[in-house]
Amino acid sequence: MSDAINDALQRPLASLRLSVTDRCNLRCRYCMPEDEYVWLPRTSILTFEEMERLTGVFAGLGVHKVRLTGGEPLLRHDLPTLVAMIAHNPRIRDLAMTTNGLLLAKHAAALRAAGLQRLTVSLDTLRPERMLAFAKSARHADVLEGVAAARDTGFANLKLNTVVIRGFNDDELADLIEFGRRHDAEVRFIEYMDVGGATRWSMDQVVSQREMLEVLARRYGPIEPVHPIGGDDRAPAERFRLADGTTFGIIASVTAPFCRTCDRSRITADGTWFLCLYAARGIDLRNPRRLGRGAGVPHPGNVAGSQRPRGGAATRRSGPGCPVPDRFAARRPPPRDAYTGRVTSPPDPLSTLWRGGMHP
Ligand code: 5AD
Ligand code: SF4
Repeated sequence: MSDAINDALQRPLASLRLSVTDRCNLRCRYCMPEDEYVWLPRTSILTFEEMERLTGVFAGLGVHKVRLTGGEPLLRHDLPTLVAMIAHNPRIRDLAMTTNGLLLAKHAAALRAAGLQRLTVSLDTLRPERMLAFAKSARHADVLEGVAAARDTGFANLKLNTVVIRGFNDDELADLIEFGRRHDAEVRFIEYMDVGGATRWSMDQVVSQREMLEVLARRYGPIEPVHPIGGDDRAPAERFRLADGTTFGIIASVTAPFCRTCDRSRITADGTWFLCLYAARGIDLRNPRRLGRGAGVPHPGNVAGSQRPRGGAATRRSGPGCPVPDRFAARRPPPRDAYTGRVTSPPDPLSTLWRGGMHP
């Protein structure tokens, strides 16, 4: 359609991630490693009505996939109501959510009844003691219960996200595949990305896609790539199949950035629109709306060239399809981490304005 959102590279922005809260009840070391953060004041968080209106405007511009994210989205009170409001829009053909699963058992049925179509649950480890050490939570059983509830509620294409970190969970790849198989869920292993802030990322902690495949091939024998048949070739995960038919995905954002096919933009909980997950600057969509000036969404044609120069940004390198190859090499890191939405400096977390965690 002629008014679809395209960026300067003619990449359609068909997929919108909507952060419904900046808060989280976990403290994953790779995302929110500090004990305390200063959260956004409640008054600056978008209301459900504002989110519904914004997604409506974006749907009119060609967005047909919406993913609810956080922080942890289930910390937002009465989330099924928002789900129903968005699901009501016939242009939104795919409505999904990424969650850490802690509160999922309680809400899975209501979410499904409200029209949520797909769920991704983060599950980095099957060992409770590792979760305690890594995410400061003793509630591993709640996550497992959440996964089971999602499956029992009938969510199709249930996915499990595992960030693979050397020395933390890189010995659990096969166990996680087995777990996924038992729960009708497809595991997606994610290369550990540098999201800035206090996360102390280093390249030696990254387990590359290649290494993951080698480890799994030693255990399972030959692994073949699954090519999307009429499927979503914009999905960041490459999918693979074991000899017994079990499939899994790998998101190789560090060693194989997928900028060329990226179709995502995101709105933070306070209504800032980022055209690239790693863009240094976002566009405030909330205040024009609250002030009642028009639809409040600047047409991307006016901004995309300057605001959406790259993707696959976890590498802080450009990827294929990025028009400004050395932008971040020359000028890193940006003051606000647009993937998490977090201001990454100054490092003191209490002086950090948090705009949403990684469940992007
Ligand atoms: N590197 C890779 N993946 C990350 N996630 C959060 N932080 C990072 C990181 N530094 C993952 C979460 C979640 C998904 C949305 O992003 O585990 O599953
Ligand atoms: Fe962990 Fe997701 Fe919370 Fe970040 S937002 S701390 S990745 S559960």
